[in-house]
Amino acid sequence: MALSGLFLVLFLLQHFSINFLSVLSPELFNETSHFMGTNVLVQFLLQPVLILGIIFHFVMGIYLEVKNNKARPVKYKKFNGGSNSSWMSRNMIFTGLVVLAFLGLHFYDFWIPEIVHKYVEGSPEDAGRYYGELVEKFEDPIRVGLYVISFIFLMLHLLHGFSASFQSAGWHSKYKPWIRKATVAFSVIIPLGFIFIALFHYITNV
Ligand code: HEM
Repeated sequence: MALSGLFLVLFLLQHFSINFLSVLSPELFNETSHFMGTNVLVQFLLQPVLILGIIFHFVMGIYLEVKNNKARPVKYKKFNGGSNSSWMSRNMIFTGLVVLAFLGLHFYDFWIPEIVHKYVEGSPEDAGRYYGELVEKFEDPIRVGLYVISFIFLMLHLLHGFSASFQSAGWHSKYKPWIRKATVAFSVIIPLGFIFIALFHYITNV
């Protein structure tokens, strides 16, 4: 669970960096997306590993939640979880399911059309199409709103998940203050960055 989480954190960093290019330069975004979308290694090794990593992460998350609930069928008489645990750590399954629902919408928006375009219809490759396809999706205020809400839930999920992954992976406790700082920095900056990208394209296209 921890290793798949750390792997998804790396993916998020990569995904954010490429998407941020769409704000800086449409040409650079198109070039990078074209490379990622046509490179054999990315398409047939990294992409399947990523999809398996995502499936593993949420299947294990749901399995562990069910197992933990079964381990305590009778609830505590007096539950004072807030005294030694954060809201985020107690609601990982909830914030995770919201992120999963977002991924359903996000795959419907980008990933499925991409797979259909390339591997079902076998359409000729057009290296300049990516920017237009991305911007078009952010014209709809409802979709932009759903994305922004999802990114806030992603932030809440990461605020606990990021440092918990390091802890489960066995990092020495002397690094704890640094892991805490890195957790807050990553978990706030990356989702806020995604929110910025979504709002930027919405605002510059109205
Ligand atoms: C404004 C924010 C975002 C934008 C503009 C965006 C854009 C895109 C685009 C254009 C694709 C299609 C890539 C392709 O297969 O050709 C994609 C795929 C994907 N996105 Fe996002 N994304 C955003 C946020 C996120 C977030 C927050 C997550 C995770 C929680 C995420 C997870 C994924 C995954 C798993 C894929 C499929 C894997 C891949 O082929 O790269 N995205 N995204």
